[in-house]
Amino acid sequence: MTREVILYIGVSLDGYIAKEDDDLQWLEEVEGEGDNGYTAMYDTIDTTIMGKRTYDYVMEHAVDFPYPDKKNYVFTTSEQGSTDYVDFVNVNVVAFTKKLKEQQGAKIWMVGGSGILDAFVKENLIDEYIITVTPHILGSGIPLFKENNPQINLELVNTKRYGQFVELHYKAKKC
Ligand SMILES: NC(=O)c1ccc[n+]([C@@H]2O[C@H](COP(=O)([O-])OP(=O)(O)OC[C@H]3O[C@@H](n4cnc5c(N)ncnc54)[C@H](OP(=O)(O)O)[C@@H]3O)[C@@H](O)[C@H]2O)c1
Repeated sequence: MTREVILYIGVSLDGYIAKEDDDLQWLEEVEGEGDNGYTAMYDTIDTTIMGKRTYDYVMEHAVDFPYPDKKNYVFTTSEQGSTDYVDFVNVNVVAFTKKLKEQQGAKIWMVGGSGILDAFVKENLIDEYIITVTPHILGSGIPLFKENNPQINLELVNTKRYGQFVELHYKAKKC
């Protein structure tokens, strides 16, 4: 059994993960319920992968690094080395992730954003999509998915409502 890669992400009804200027206030202000399924997801993973822009957002907005108990990889061409919490990585992300999947461990959380996610989608590397839809039509911003993806067939395994959020949980059908 290889480890699964999950995408757990919030998205507007029209498919944006952030406004162009990285504004996420619209997402943070949604009236949810409890922690909106976050702990249930977080307890299944031991590793995160994120892009540098998402990392920068987290570092600017969080008081403490939010995933201190996980192994965290930040993909970037502009920074090297590591901090107390993350390793900066600049290798082929697909090959890197495939190698991780062969190692012992829990699930891997593809945190985002869509810059780094694109490589995963193009290679059909996401095993589970947990997409939490917010009640907004933003009109513009950073889209979750870029263009020219292969067709990926999914199986809906669950839906959950958390107040004004709807969580859609899919598994990729592997042929
Ligand atoms: N709604 C949500 O739940 C959610 C979730 C995650 C993120 N976000 C938001 O989405 C925005 C992120 O935007 P984004 O999608 O444009 O950025 P991103 O994917 O987080 O980061 C893009 C950057 O990551 C690095 N990168 C990407 N692919 C790489 C690769 N294959 N190899 C090496 N480095 C790679 C590059 O950094 P360098 O330029 O340093 O090389 C690139 O500029 C932020 O505002 C964030 O807060 C929202």
